[in-house]
Amino acid sequence: MPLYPEYLIREVADKNDIRDVISQYVTLKKAGSSYVGLCPFHNEKTPSFSVSPQKGIFHCFGCGEGGNVIHFLMKIENMPFIEAVEKLAERAGITLPKPDEKDSARHAQMAQERDTIYEMNMAAAEFFYENLKHGKQAVEYLKKRSLSGADAKRFFLGYSKDSWDALFNHLKQKGYAESDILKAGLIKSSENGKYYDAFRNRVMFPIFDTRNRVIGFGGRVLDDSKPKYLNSPDSPVFSKSRNLYFLNAARRSGKEFVILVEGYMDVIALAKNGYINTVATLGTALTTSQAKILASEFKEVVICYDSDGAGRNATTRAIGILREHDVKISVLNLKDKKDPDEYINAFGITRFSNCISKRKTDMMYLIDTLEQDYDVTDNSQKVSFIGEILNYMKLILNPVELDVYVEEVSSRTKVSSNAIYSQLGIVKAVNTTPSSSTETPDITMIAQRKTVMSSDAALERTRELMLALLLANKSVYKRKKQSITPSLFESEVHRKLLSYILAFYEIDKAIDPTQVIDFFTEESEIREVSRILSLDNKTDDADKAFDDYLKVINERMNRKNILSQLNGDNPDKIEKLNKFIKNQ
Ligand code: GTP
Ligand code: MN
Repeated sequence: MPLYPEYLIREVADKNDIRDVISQYVTLKKAGSSYVGLCPFHNEKTPSFSVSPQKGIFHCFGCGEGGNVIHFLMKIENMPFIEAVEKLAERAGITLPKPDEKDSARHAQMAQERDTIYEMNMAAAEFFYENLKHGKQAVEYLKKRSLSGADAKRFFLGYSKDSWDALFNHLKQKGYAESDILKAGLIKSSENGKYYDAFRNRVMFPIFDTRNRVIGFGGRVLDDSKPKYLNSPDSPVFSKSRNLYFLNAARRSGKEFVILVEGYMDVIALAKNGYINTVATLGTALTTSQAKILASEFKEVVICYDSDGAGRNATTRAIGILREHDVKISVLNLKDKKDPDEYINAFGITRFSNCISKRKTDMMYLIDTLEQDYDVTDNSQKVSFIGEILNYMKLILNPVELDVYVEEVSSRTKVSSNAIYSQLGIVKAVNTTPSSSTETPDITMIAQRKTVMSSDAALERTRELMLALLLANKSVYKRKKQSITPSLFESEVHRKLLSYILAFYEIDKAIDPTQVIDFFTEESEIREVSRILSLDNKTDDADKAFDDYLKVINERMNRKNILSQLNGDNPDKIEKLNKFIKNQ
């Protein structure tokens, strides 16, 4: 696949000082042997973006982006690999051989295809927007939903005519190929091979990516026909699971929290009334990638889903997904109306703002909601209530936070917090760390819960530290190699990295950190490796550090084994959660 020989790509990376290149985009300040700055890939106020000229890598501890100078250019300029290499070669005055024609043609073609689709989507959005001027019905419909011409302009709303080929003809006339229009999902092909417009007689909502390119559309019928909404299919430029409606604007709002709603109309109603910090998923449930994006852009996610049963279910599910990321979560429960759009239209924005200021934390919301399903004056129901709510409270990693909610449940049920802790304490029974027996029971339990809940993360972290240590110290490897085995590691990347370390040290070659990353091609691997390379591995006694890491890894792996035997197959947390909320 690579277009240029590896040594040349290496040379290109080596001859371009990563600090110089990044400095053209980011103001960097010296911090020890590295440089730090505000990450250009997510919105942040305190720098978590680190560049190491020695190691030739960058890594953002906030959003996880990372890699070498080539990866940086690819990300920031949204360039394919080959283009980034060529640009950097030019910058460093390296002459590249004439590329293999077939490969470069393929790359160029793919890049071209994406560009064409972006451009065509924009042309379609403009066409839909223009249609509104003659689409009386659509304008009427928007008016009925309190949306004016100015709103249509601001949100770039449009109308797809009641025609089988209006857009198709328009795009063909502009010179676009049928195959590209099809790939963009703007037309569909019928059984007899004829093409027809995918969106007909609908109000159109263009979906933008964070670089303000139109990547797809949502379209709503003007009446009660079905399906109510149609969304563009995934395409070379559009992935429903990795984008959010209105994120491009929301992330520039400068707000610490983002409001997560279900529908396009909800976003528009809120944004129109000043809450630009609002996003919606694209007709599907919240995904982990979307949660990750939200957590990297905002401090808090305010879930504001529909108030019906489906909305309640989706809320619990979203809490479960968001809890896996480092972000505050709260819930807005708009009683009396179906969704935020209807709420604002009925009661006005002031009342909505009141709700915002009185929003509940996710746990408080869950406690309140579940409590309504039970009669806590009845002993047996009280026990069930506690059993259910604890399933959610297990998601809490912070011991202080846990204590707050244990107290809350305790005061509502008049069950002692000790008893609640021990019910949470499947943990206590299996956790037999010797040191803990000397501490007082309460604190121990909280501390242990934290250890157990986050032990996977801690274990991974220790593995990373060990790899970072080995990458920087050939001598430690030489002395400790008897105890280094692949079985200490679980993830593919870690094992790959270890095999790399072994390959070098066994032939007695030192490792050049700038080269390690070239060994990896997957984006997720590159991020992981750049993080490991960026870990601060300064230590006075490397052998002792190694022994400590080894001990922790072994202990935690043992504990994990015991736990998984006790728990059987650990079922998917989210699924488990869903089972527990039973409403309507
Ligand atoms: P309005 O009736 O226009 O106010 O819609 P809503 O935003 O209240 O819609 P609803 O709560 O029914 O749906 C929320 C979101 O789910 C929409 O914005 C769509 O993205 C998606 N959605 C709704 N209905 C459909 C459908 O029939 N098909 C698909 N694919 N998505 C839908
Ligand atoms: Mn609605």
